[in-house]
Amino acid sequence: MYQPTSSRYQDMSYRRCGHSGIKLPEISLGLWHNFGHQDSFETARAVVFKAFDKGITHFDLANNYGPPPGSAEENFGKMMAADLRSYRDEMIISTKAGYYMWDGPYGEWGSKKYLVSSLDQSLKRMQLDYVDIFYHHRPDPDTPLEETMMALDLIVRQGKALYVGLSNYNPEQTMDAVNLLKQLGTPCLIHQPNYSLFNRWVEGGLLDVLEREGIGCIPFSPLAQGLLTDRYLQEIPADSRAAKAVFLKEDRVQQMLPKIKALNDVAQQRGQSLAQMALAWLLKDTRVTSVLIGASSVAQLENNLGALQNKTFSTEDLSRIEAIL
Ligand SMILES: NC(=O)c1ccc[n+]([C@@H]2O[C@H](COP(=O)([O-])OP(=O)(O)OC[C@H]3O[C@@H](n4cnc5c(N)ncnc54)[C@H](OP(=O)(O)O)[C@@H]3O)[C@@H](O)[C@H]2O)c1
Repeated sequence: MYQPTSSRYQDMSYRRCGHSGIKLPEISLGLWHNFGHQDSFETARAVVFKAFDKGITHFDLANNYGPPPGSAEENFGKMMAADLRSYRDEMIISTKAGYYMWDGPYGEWGSKKYLVSSLDQSLKRMQLDYVDIFYHHRPDPDTPLEETMMALDLIVRQGKALYVGLSNYNPEQTMDAVNLLKQLGTPCLIHQPNYSLFNRWVEGGLLDVLEREGIGCIPFSPLAQGLLTDRYLQEIPADSRAAKAVFLKEDRVQQMLPKIKALNDVAQQRGQSLAQMALAWLLKDTRVTSVLIGASSVAQLENNLGALQNKTFSTEDLSRIEAIL
């Protein structure tokens, strides 16, 4: 039986999520990869428990995480039932719906039918009564935005989620959704965009919208799926995400390698690993509430937590990084 350490809140800092009452840890753990039925349950369990021991209170899932889809939620549900149940009130658990999950016309996108059914399935898999945050995972070009936002509002009123969030919405789509949610009385808590040193699209307007509207920001893939670490400096390891070649391709590694090596030099001069510098670089912006990392081992998680030791950048460091990018 897992017993969390009593010192778990000593080293983590928490940031207020936009203008809400919720604070999130500066580092949150995502279960997109490494937590499905094809992965080691023992390792997955060790990573989740280590995270909680280190003050990571926020765990991010989605209906389709696995593989197979749904299995990350099932595995997380097993951990909740066996070990974490008595700590439920110390945890912020999120899930999402938007991508393909089941066959037929109601298994993806943004209809009320899909969102309500998907969350019901997620709650069963995770053995939970409610999630803390329910996200619409991606904008739907066909369903009226009113329907999608009304579904999010309904889910909160039913008590199946406490807060709602948006993911992968551009600034204009975000504004439209935020205004609808405001009218409905269920404000948008948080936005989850792809944001890292290698993907800076949010700097072109989204961060300004979120700041103005008092909405939190939790960048996903802050390590560019592992590119912004020392994982690929020598070779493509057989157990790495790039070797699996589904979401990260080997040619992307080769293409980015010169920049990875140059950034690694800057990180070393700062006395940090590249992963630590990449996370610290995001956290230097106070508009970023938390960075949502993945990890395939406890060692990676611990290395990433080291980012919190140094989040300041000299002007010289920043210009060196800009020059490399
Ligand atoms: N909303 C969305 O559309 C969306 C999309 C993607 C992700 N997300 C969320 O964001 C979370 C994080 O995404 P991500 O997994 O792509 O994040 P990431 O932190 O950019 O990448 C995680 C991967 O980087 C490698 N890694 C991590 N720390 C390392 C270290 N210290 N040293 C060496 N390698 C290290 C590992 O790769 P190996 O596995 O190769 O060891 C790990 O699996 C997901 O779990 C999910 O919750 C959301």
